[in-house]
Amino acid sequence: MAIRKIVKLGDESLRKTCKPQETFSLRLWTLLKDMADTMYQAEGVGLAAPQVGILRRCVVIDISEDRSGLIELINPEIIDRSEETQCGREGCLSLPGRAGIVTRPMRVTVRAQDRHGKTFELTGEGLLARAICHELDHLDGVLYIDEMDREMTPEEIEADNQRQQRLAEERKKSGE
Ligand code: NI
Repeated sequence: MAIRKIVKLGDESLRKTCKPQETFSLRLWTLLKDMADTMYQAEGVGLAAPQVGILRRCVVIDISEDRSGLIELINPEIIDRSEETQCGREGCLSLPGRAGIVTRPMRVTVRAQDRHGKTFELTGEGLLARAICHELDHLDGVLYIDEMDREMTPEEIEADNQRQQRLAEERKKSGE
């Protein structure tokens, strides 16, 4: 397991346009594995390659609670987005301790390549749609703070964390 260093706001990697990933071999698979390990260790739901200083169009996402739903997107492009939107909390591992309210499409369809170069399409709703939009933005040097409706206050973040924790505990209980 190799944990890579997540670069923070102010690092120029976060503001670059990433290049397409053109080779699908061990070097890419190592990057993807490291990105997943790094995301899980940081308890994030997504990570883009520029966040570990690699300017390639590669993203990992896992919105599942038990961390079993890894999605790898290589050279992803959003090909369809719903008119219906969602408005909610968003944060970023490169901006620790901060969060904002961001409006995103409720549903997006992405076309991407897998780790072997095979093209596939994926439709995500709700949190998955939000994560896809957020991570794909990273590939073009865009951060959620560029698009947010407003920044959340530390008090709002704390209250929301507590609410999320309560919900998670309730889900756990009802699953027992
Ligand atoms: Ni991010």
